[in-house]
Amino acid sequence: MERSLVIIKPDATVRRRIGALVIKALMDRDLKVVAFKEMNVPDSLAKLHYDVHKDKPFFPWLIDFISSAPVITMILEGENAIEDIRDALGATFVQKADSSSLRGKYGVWAGINIAHASDAPDTATKEIMLWKEEGGLEETDDAQEMALDYIRKYSANKRDYTSEIRNTVNTAIEREDTSEDVLQRLIDLLSKDAEDITEEEINNLARVVFDYIKEEVE
Ligand code: CDP
Ligand code: MG
Repeated sequence: MERSLVIIKPDATVRRRIGALVIKALMDRDLKVVAFKEMNVPDSLAKLHYDVHKDKPFFPWLIDFISSAPVITMILEGENAIEDIRDALGATFVQKADSSSLRGKYGVWAGINIAHASDAPDTATKEIMLWKEEGGLEETDDAQEMALDYIRKYSANKRDYTSEIRNTVNTAIEREDTSEDVLQRLIDLLSKDAEDITEEEINNLARVVFDYIKEEVE
């Protein structure tokens, strides 16, 4: 048996139905949920979690992204869980992810890619310890039931707006359009399925996506 730390990132938590579909797809692979927590990620924890990337140019953006709006943090357990989950997610960059993979289906753009999953047994152990100690993640008997409740609650939600969001990002980059209209359109699209997410959190996430567009255009 193997364990992996999985984070449903803000882009898939704010889009409630997408988050539910991703969790369901992972559970359907015979993975057991041993810990489940919806939370906002403090800057300090985000920095520790992504410490290996601290010298990369995308690091400050990545910290803003992961702490922009709530995430769902889980420990998943199963045979070959680490590789199995990474396979299900697909390549890191959304445009490079196979269209049958979860990132290929639901990812927004480039590194705005719906989920994190541990990449090896030693990193899984380290990440699980970190999120327990600094993130208040707990193994509980009802974690599996909490995940099933989440799926029941949100998978029947409104439709999937992934293609509209991708179109907005693509078109803005093509036209080199970094006007406030683009930001507003992202806010509108990200609001559509954002049950129990605050306006500020939606704005934060939209701003992070918008920053990516600006980066591409500049
Ligand atoms: O998440 P994964 O392990 O697949 O990729 P990583 O190389 O460990 O990078 C961590 C995260 O940083 C990615 O999931 C992306 O969200 C982000 N990233 C990015 O935005 N731009 C890059 N050039 C590389 C990574
Ligand atoms: Mg990684």
